[in-house]
Amino acid sequence: MNIKKLIDDLTIDEKIGQLLQLAPFFFVEDLDVEIFGHVQALHLNKEKIFQAGSVLGNNNATEMIKVQKRYLKESRHKIPLIFMADIVHGFKTIFPVPLAMSTSFNPRLVYEAARIQAKEARVSGIQVTFSPMADISHDPRWGRVVEGFGEDPYLTSEFTRASIKGYQGVDLSLHDSIAACVKHFAAYGASESGRDYNTADINHISLYNIYLPTYKAAVDAGVKLLMTAFNTVDHIPATVNEFLLRDILRKQWHYKGVVISDYDSLHQVIKHGVAKNDEEAAYLGLKAGLDIEMQSTAYVNYLESIINKHPDMMKLLDQAVYRVLKLKKELGLFKDPYAGADPVKEQAIIRQKNHLDMAEQVAMESMVLLKNNNHLLPLDKQLTYALIGPYSETKRTNGPWAGHGDNALNHTLNETLSKEGVQIIFNKATETPVFSQAEIKQIKMADILLIALGENEYESGEAHAKAHIKLPRNQEKFMTFAKQLKKKTITLLYHGRPFDLTNIMDTDALLDVYYLGSRAHEAIAKTMVGKHNPSGKLTMTYPKTAGQIPIYYNHLNTGRPKEPDIMNEYVSFYLDEDNEPLFPFGFGLSYATFEYSNLVIDKIKFNQNEAVCVSIDIANNSNYDGYETVQLYIRDLVGLYARPVKELKAFKKVWIAAHHKQTISFELTYKDLTYYDIKGNRRLEPGEFQIIVGPNSRDTQTMIIELIKENFHDIKQ
Ligand code: GLC
Repeated sequence: MNIKKLIDDLTIDEKIGQLLQLAPFFFVEDLDVEIFGHVQALHLNKEKIFQAGSVLGNNNATEMIKVQKRYLKESRHKIPLIFMADIVHGFKTIFPVPLAMSTSFNPRLVYEAARIQAKEARVSGIQVTFSPMADISHDPRWGRVVEGFGEDPYLTSEFTRASIKGYQGVDLSLHDSIAACVKHFAAYGASESGRDYNTADINHISLYNIYLPTYKAAVDAGVKLLMTAFNTVDHIPATVNEFLLRDILRKQWHYKGVVISDYDSLHQVIKHGVAKNDEEAAYLGLKAGLDIEMQSTAYVNYLESIINKHPDMMKLLDQAVYRVLKLKKELGLFKDPYAGADPVKEQAIIRQKNHLDMAEQVAMESMVLLKNNNHLLPLDKQLTYALIGPYSETKRTNGPWAGHGDNALNHTLNETLSKEGVQIIFNKATETPVFSQAEIKQIKMADILLIALGENEYESGEAHAKAHIKLPRNQEKFMTFAKQLKKKTITLLYHGRPFDLTNIMDTDALLDVYYLGSRAHEAIAKTMVGKHNPSGKLTMTYPKTAGQIPIYYNHLNTGRPKEPDIMNEYVSFYLDEDNEPLFPFGFGLSYATFEYSNLVIDKIKFNQNEAVCVSIDIANNSNYDGYETVQLYIRDLVGLYARPVKELKAFKKVWIAAHHKQTISFELTYKDLTYYDIKGNRRLEPGEFQIIVGPNSRDTQTMIIELIKENFHDIKQ
């Protein structure tokens, strides 16, 4: 297929049509009848609809084949549609939400999960997924933190890379792969006050060092599409922001893929007050480098007149159309417009056993043990348990952005714990701890209370910001109830965002289970009975109170830091709360006890051509085998700009058998010590750096090394 020749054969309307994306119903309902007013509202007509280039959100192979067949019959040029949808953490087999998967510190699991999602989606007629979300956020009020991989740029970049490699495989034309679309470019996670669609006001040091690196990792990993964010950057909406879409993306990063808007975000440039109307929005979008307009019609209604007024912009249109057609060619659509969609194969592939088994394995590494006093976990099968709380009978473990999945196919925790031989003598889901006398009598007979608390899947995700991050609906009352009964408690947390857990910290054990997907309760039960040792580590800081937000580990020191044990009121602190989080980034317990010792660095002074070897001993002083994730951070003690008090630069997840010891080593080079200046140029500064190693970002051991000026040379940008 010669794409340039194909473009030359297209009319201008047909070129513009390739940049239009519509929902499936536009193509198959009886177009002579108004469809919910959409066709009218979007100033569309049948001709424009059958010139569209892509479809948003189809559900299965049958629907895709029906739409494609109708489209190819009606369209003049016979260029197949491309079908796109949000396959964020599962199609029919649902994996843990990305925030949970990131706690595994195991990008290979995300790669495997993405491979399975690609196979299930492709056979069901989807060729592009709007995933991974690579947004960094420091704000648990923002509901979309559930879709990302946490607050750290380095860790999120590792997971973003793995995700893209998993979705895209080795050849996009194969039926086991789909194109990935990294989102939301850029800095959507910096939405002020944690409210969706809100302003993001960021200086360029933070932009280059915190928010852009994860999208850069996606581009370097070969991502095929990139979605623009709803927010502004430098007070210009990202969807029409030339600095982002041309200067950074095309000129600096040499990105050759497609740029797609978010839902209606081109039209929303009017609401931002940066375009008077859709015609101006369309002009700004094409000029900035936006290719596909998702579910709004500024392009299809105005680009022809704009190009008539500005003929030189035809080349921008041709470039945009070229990128869309190149993607269709890479996906094999010109050879097979159905791209592997097959209703019969679909039934054999989706939710096949090995997919669900992988979902269970990922889930087991995606939960975090936050407290375990008196080793209440693993459960003692000689004891009896009462399972209460609003989520104690739930099957809704798929979480947000799992619309193609079905919670009804999941098992309850009672079913899976009972199957593991745990004696559950009472189980009732109630929003508040109100029970009959008879029920209380039964509960009293149990040795330990299992309490399932949290929020449902509609309380995080898109457009679900919260100003209060305590447990909702007074669920803390279950702690009071347990105290009145003088019962020990094990609390399970179902959620999408970090909570303020201060009022339930009297619980004896606390297992953070997020939304773990199709095999959530199998994984939780196996972990609770000790068949699996929990190994997750938090990838977002858990505040003590919403008043501390934004709170994150890689903050600056300030000129008056609150120093421990130094009484001085004129420093950066609160009168009514301390500065420390409830749980720090990287925190997570195990049934095992890991002891860190003997931090060794092979050279204290080194030059730019040398590597530094850092090693530390870890002893497993317990009867449990288990994974431990060792984290290595650095601190640049003096720079042209103030530098974070620590930055994650490496991690290793290692299996250490009971009563065994391992020496874990890392190799650092000058590349690990660079950062970006305000113009986005990579900088390296000789001087002292702290090397910081530990099981989390708080309980660490440090040593100082010095990068000397000898052999110092400029670094490649
Ligand atoms: C939504 C989301 C985006 C999603 C898109 C298509 O508004 O912001 O993440 O991919 O629309 O559903």
